[in-house]
Amino acid sequence: KTARIVLDRDFKIGDIDPRIYGGFLEHMGRAIYTGIYEPGHPTADEQGFRQDVLDLVRELGVPIVRYPGGNFVSGYNWEDGVGPKDQRPRRLDLAWRSLETNEVGTNEFADWTLKANSQMMLAVNLGTRGIDAARNLVEYCNHPGGSYWSDKRREHGYPDPHNVRVWCLGNEMDGHWQIGFKTAVEYGRLAAQAGMAMKLVDPSIELVACGSSSISMPTFGEWEATVLDLAYHHVDYISLHTYYGKGDLDTPSYLARSLGMDEFIEAVVSICDYVRSKKKLRKRIHLSFDEWNVWYHSREEDRRIMEQHAWQVAPPLAEERYTLEDALLAGCMLISLLKHADRVKIACVAQLVNVIAPIMTVPGGPAWKQTIYYPFMHASRYGRGTALLMQVDSPQYADPQYDAVPYLEAVATYDEEHEEVSIFAVNRSQEDPLYLEGDLRCFTGYGVQEHLVLSHADPHATNSAEQPHNVRPGRVEGSQVREGRLEAELPPLSWNVIRLS
Ligand code: AHR
Repeated sequence: KTARIVLDRDFKIGDIDPRIYGGFLEHMGRAIYTGIYEPGHPTADEQGFRQDVLDLVRELGVPIVRYPGGNFVSGYNWEDGVGPKDQRPRRLDLAWRSLETNEVGTNEFADWTLKANSQMMLAVNLGTRGIDAARNLVEYCNHPGGSYWSDKRREHGYPDPHNVRVWCLGNEMDGHWQIGFKTAVEYGRLAAQAGMAMKLVDPSIELVACGSSSISMPTFGEWEATVLDLAYHHVDYISLHTYYGKGDLDTPSYLARSLGMDEFIEAVVSICDYVRSKKKLRKRIHLSFDEWNVWYHSREEDRRIMEQHAWQVAPPLAEERYTLEDALLAGCMLISLLKHADRVKIACVAQLVNVIAPIMTVPGGPAWKQTIYYPFMHASRYGRGTALLMQVDSPQYADPQYDAVPYLEAVATYDEEHEEVSIFAVNRSQEDPLYLEGDLRCFTGYGVQEHLVLSHADPHATNSAEQPHNVRPGRVEGSQVREGRLEAELPPLSWNVIRLS
């Protein structure tokens, strides 16, 4: 099979906002406790943060991290997590049927993000709480001093403001599982009111309104239109969330699921622009895809833990073991985000450590990389600059849901400053390699610097603490540019990065 692509630096989708390589850490399962934070661990620093995990997060390249939830935030009192640790209350976390010790809160997380070379993206509780708690948290984090909450922060040992730029107005407020779930009208009004008060405290912040929890929600579409109708002036982004599972799907149909992500993004863009036109405004709402990943291996076990275990600190929830094929779907999802770089300005892989995560830890033991770690790391490292609209002509296969699915899923990025082009490509074929022929047009003089591949003889192969390098990327030789034409071979079921300069 042969696929053809055409690349031109003038065919631009848009500038890539580095925040599309964001992550998410929720007080859920072992993400925080025994994930990023484990005092007594051989690598723990003076604050109890695991250095081995920080090393992996820095290597992954995550410029922004959403915190502290997720469903957790809809029952969270942020005040519980600041001030002297020995006075912080232990609470019932109703979202995940867990005990919350509050050893880690906003200030500790601010320190952690600095150590991770990242920034905080904070969510406020619009479930059990509202405008008052939200504006107080902005004052606590961002006001320099001389007011009640900013002086509290200074008293707590943080003289300088955290300057948190991006704030989420609640989490999945359309979901019946959410504490304090709401109708679109109830939420739209609250988002506008809380957002207005938060921006009065600090006008420089950016706000994310909750979109639908997934495209399959019965209120999808109507929810976005109503919320934006009510809150358009106060918000800057609308959120999207998606987790793909495999169910009874075979590998080709499973890998086709990223086409649903393209559809979801395009539908939300249309709704944003519909409200914009109706209101006759210039301001555009952008997209924050602030939860995306694959999640299905652990669902049964999660249910069992949630229903049967006693209340405990950090139960092992959502500890997915990702396979090679999961990494390929995650790669296709990253490609989908890049293909919509003009409108998707923030995205967070959900989550970062232990919970549906690229990084896993053993309490007291090592930290290791899942299969999905690699496509993310490659995209974050090499997918900078401008996303290019690539002309793709690929053979296709039939699929019951998406009719015709291209074997080749691909996007290119152009980093003008470093004069580098990266092609990210997944070969969805189980049986055959895909020969890639590229017309490089104006990229005269460019050659193949490196061709990286993630593949494995077994599509269900995983990594583990015992075998952390079972699935990992390698370099492929033989890819070349001849007379302005790229020639490369993509192995069956593979993630590829072809770097040209
Ligand atoms: O990321 C795990 C959970 O998935 C989040 O708490 C929630 O927002 C989503 O349903």
